[in-house]
Amino acid sequence: MTATIAPTSAALPLAIPPLDRAAAAPLQEQLSEALRAAVLSGRLKSGTRLPPTRQFAADLGVSRNTVAGAFDRLLAEGYLEARVGDGTYVARALPDDLIRARRPPAPVGGADRAAGDLSQRGSLLVAHPPSAARPGDCPAPRAFRAVLPALDAFPRRAWGRLVERHLRRPDPALLGYGDPAGYRPLREVIAAYLGVTRGARCEPDQVIVVGGSQQALDLAARLLLDPGDAAAIEDPGYPGARAALRAAGADLRPVPVDAEGIVVGTALAGARLVYTTPSHQFPLGATMSLARRLALLDWAARDGAWILEDDYDGEYRYDGRPLPALQGLDGGGRVIYLGTFSKVLFPGLRLGYLVVPPALADAFAAARALADRGSPQLEQAALADFIAEGHFARHIRRTRLLYLERQRALVAAARRELAGLLEVRPAAAGMHLVGRLPADADDRAVWRRAAAHGVACLPLAACALAAPPFPGLVLGYAAPDIAEIEAGVALLRAALRGDR
Ligand SMILES: Cc1ncc(COP(=O)(O)O)c(C=O)c1O
Repeated sequence: MTATIAPTSAALPLAIPPLDRAAAAPLQEQLSEALRAAVLSGRLKSGTRLPPTRQFAADLGVSRNTVAGAFDRLLAEGYLEARVGDGTYVARALPDDLIRARRPPAPVGGADRAAGDLSQRGSLLVAHPPSAARPGDCPAPRAFRAVLPALDAFPRRAWGRLVERHLRRPDPALLGYGDPAGYRPLREVIAAYLGVTRGARCEPDQVIVVGGSQQALDLAARLLLDPGDAAAIEDPGYPGARAALRAAGADLRPVPVDAEGIVVGTALAGARLVYTTPSHQFPLGATMSLARRLALLDWAARDGAWILEDDYDGEYRYDGRPLPALQGLDGGGRVIYLGTFSKVLFPGLRLGYLVVPPALADAFAAARALADRGSPQLEQAALADFIAEGHFARHIRRTRLLYLERQRALVAAARRELAGLLEVRPAAAGMHLVGRLPADADDRAVWRRAAAHGVACLPLAACALAAPPFPGLVLGYAAPDIAEIEAGVALLRAALRGDR
């Protein structure tokens, strides 16, 4: 259920507490926090139209840029949505349940916190949601969502047979509580798969099944970091990792990336942990060179730091075999490897895995037990069969060809239609490309216009902690078919040219 659209926004500024010019937090951040809190508390209802930036800025006594920046941030996080030629609204797709779930609980009798106050940890948790994706967001437009695989290519029949097999003659153990570290046969096939395809060196005991890499990041951050610990992160990098580390109270240290991946240098000094995507740097796409891999492992061994290696789409390389995972090169037990089935199968499955050094396996299993006792067993059993019976390898082979074809279609259409507006070059790996906008472009503004034209993408600025290297758009090409890619490029052209 979503709330009805309020006919007017005239009273809106009254809901926003006064901004404090003397506070450490910039006005833009104060305003986005205040608006987010108003949405989460239900004071600003789904579908409410926000005032135009100029009017809102005048009401609040701040610059229009301050208001536009706060709107951009909340648009990126999914709290707001832009409608073409109309204005900015509180997102319609925010279900009442989600709002209620996020509303802080009322204080229990005698608690002296004001009603609705969250703990410091709770405030950190809700202040940085990991992505703009919302429930019900998955269907159209599929061009150019950066996180979606080809849902239409997933072998549903084979999957259905495997699930049904376990339902028809259920092993009673599958219907009870399972091992929080994961269903044993699944851990075994994952260990074997990673050994063959990624050069990983691991025993099934080191494999911890999780509810996607987001849970892996959350568990790792909570187990390995104390509030205030320095955590290094590729910049630009994956917003989901940034959010998990922030929520654990980490002091984030942006580390630049270049054509060889993360730069191993002074920016890592003092970090207790580093998050990195060596196979295919998210979002810029570099593959970490062997020299860098060895330098990073060396640094971690010397400084006693942890490396979180996120191998989110390592299956998709189009020019031969990938370099082995850092995990397989690590002699010092400093690498925690993250894999996900969200990219290869589908994100709604919510299954992924960690490979942890043997000394950490029990700690991760305990943390997982505490969080939610583990992943659903029937799906784990079906997935173990899916891998063991060859469906998984077959699906990867098929989608690798499909994605290369889709990437080529995107590059060709972009070269034809977007010359001078957005430069899109082919890449040897992955499921997305980064299009480069003219140097003076504002990628968040372009992204907003693209969304209003019905095209999904991600502005590079949303991935950056410091200034992004150039204005750009992250374009996922795995989910849309070729007709949707071509239609998406035509819409993008209209958005980039400022057409209505
Ligand atoms: C860098 C990166 N890691 C991991 C994931 C997958 O996250 P999850 O397994 O939580 O669905 C994504 C998805 O977009 C990603 O871009």
